[in-house]
Amino acid sequence: MHPSLADLFDLTGQVAIVTGATKGLGRSMASGLARAGASVVVVSRDQSRCEEAAAAIAQESGRPTLAHACHMGDWDALPRLVEKTVERFGRIDVLVNNAGIHPAPVAVMDLSSEYFDKLYHVNLKGPVRLAALVAKQMQKQGPGGRIVNVATVGAYAGGPGVGTYTGLKAALINFTKTMAREWAPLGIRVNALCPGPFDSEMMRGTVKLDPKFPDRSAMATMQQRVADCDEVIGAVLYLASKASSFVTGEDHVVAGGMLRC
Ligand SMILES: NC(=O)c1ccc[n+]([C@@H]2O[C@H](COP(=O)([O-])OP(=O)(O)OC[C@H]3O[C@@H](n4cnc5c(N)ncnc54)[C@H](OP(=O)(O)O)[C@@H]3O)[C@@H](O)[C@H]2O)c1
Repeated sequence: MHPSLADLFDLTGQVAIVTGATKGLGRSMASGLARAGASVVVVSRDQSRCEEAAAAIAQESGRPTLAHACHMGDWDALPRLVEKTVERFGRIDVLVNNAGIHPAPVAVMDLSSEYFDKLYHVNLKGPVRLAALVAKQMQKQGPGGRIVNVATVGAYAGGPGVGTYTGLKAALINFTKTMAREWAPLGIRVNALCPGPFDSEMMRGTVKLDPKFPDRSAMATMQQRVADCDEVIGAVLYLASKASSFVTGEDHVVAGGMLRC
């Protein structure tokens, strides 16, 4: 008997942490995971924004949610996120390492130590640390955990002014492959999701510095557009569910056919 299609994507009774879940892609992914049946932990830097998003997601999905403010760049704050999730829901089945920052572009010759460190802590060191902490919890639970690291299609190409952001995201893709290999014996699957241009606050923020950035990004896709954030839901549900049971260590581009060079 084949599994039903609904069963393939069903997350009923499962627990998902989504970082950066108050806005943009994270908010859409958290909503999709909750509507597939998961209890969702909503994480960002700001407790009131987390509570607002968690309440809205609980209302639209009928699933329990937990709001927990945590700065991804704060190494010592990350264990508490894992502990609190386990205290509240008893387990962790899915981690979506989505929170990321993309401040004003800086050319390589102009890089400061502060700028490099800020991006490094939030876009790479924090997600790697959180994945490791969650994987230890998943190991205790037995096989079945799934981790999705959100990178960018820009990681394949780099570009003027964005090298720190894209370089660290490229490192996150590489870490994804290492994690997948190290944790496959534990039954944990790890994949990277690489978005192209999505209409989020991050994307809209680029307009202040470069009004043509969204249009240029749109034109670099085959579909000639910037996507709505809800268009990422199908991809994250696939990676977070049984639908991708034989998929690990891969990077999955969701970018309207954007060229990778
Ligand atoms: N949008 C795109 O076109 C695009 C393209 C490629 C890749 N991406 C990647 O997709 C992910 C989501 O991007 P987005 O466009 O949805 O961004 P966004 O609209 O700026 O949202 C970012 C989210 O992360 C949270 N956040 C920011 N800094 C944080 C920190 N230090 N610790 C914890 N949470 C933090 C923000 O909430 P608070 O402000 O409440 O903390 C917010 O919920 C990022 O990793 C980004 O690099 C986006």
